[in-house]
Amino acid sequence: MAINIALDGPSAAGKSTIAKRLAKQLNYVHLDTGAMYRCVAYKALHTGVDLKDEAAVCKMIEETVIDMKSDGSIFLDGKAITNEIRTDEISMAASHVSAHKQVRALLVAQQQKIAENKGYIMDGRDIGTVVLPHAELKVFMTASAEARANRRHLENLSKGFESDLSQIIEEIRQRDWQDTHREHSPLKKAEDAVVLDTSDMSIDEVVKKIEELLPL
Ligand code: DC
Repeated sequence: MAINIALDGPSAAGKSTIAKRLAKQLNYVHLDTGAMYRCVAYKALHTGVDLKDEAAVCKMIEETVIDMKSDGSIFLDGKAITNEIRTDEISMAASHVSAHKQVRALLVAQQQKIAENKGYIMDGRDIGTVVLPHAELKVFMTASAEARANRRHLENLSKGFESDLSQIIEEIRQRDWQDTHREHSPLKKAEDAVVLDTSDMSIDEVVKKIEELLPL
């Protein structure tokens, strides 16, 4: 029988990459909850909604349709914005909108509804603690800020983007601080989550380790 897997951890820990690989191998569906906060931030920035105005952001969410396809493409109100939500500007804006309690409540409700049928690998910050507290497997993936920044740096270079390693380290530290110090659902390991420090692990090693943790 299918189960739900909660995969939490700080920014750029490689959660999405691992979740995609596992989903493919297990024939599960990957749900990237961070992308939902990114869509909200993207729409607010593009429609002039003040990120700090919680009520306005919530009203906007109620008039928004986020469609996450199983091939990883993401549609916001019918428009493909898969890559557009991955910029540094949107990362910071998503971190800001995700601090609002009511914004979280609206997105958490959507995430819980989606996962009702099981067979999901959901990655985020509060999956094991809030969204799926009864998930059959909870993994908390960490890596040092330097290791995470270095991966992002190499990824940028491989795509031909300009990249400044020390700036990436600084941004990752800043987002870690924001995500762990916000009042509502801060990034926190669930008590029953298994911690995986992936600083010195390859993608294959992490996937294999999580497969070993799956309940029979
Ligand atoms: O995982 P990500 O970098 O795409 O997430 C973008 C932002 O959204 C990040 O600052 C943390 C926030 N987030 C959250 O608060 N809760 C989640 N379940 C997922 C992401």
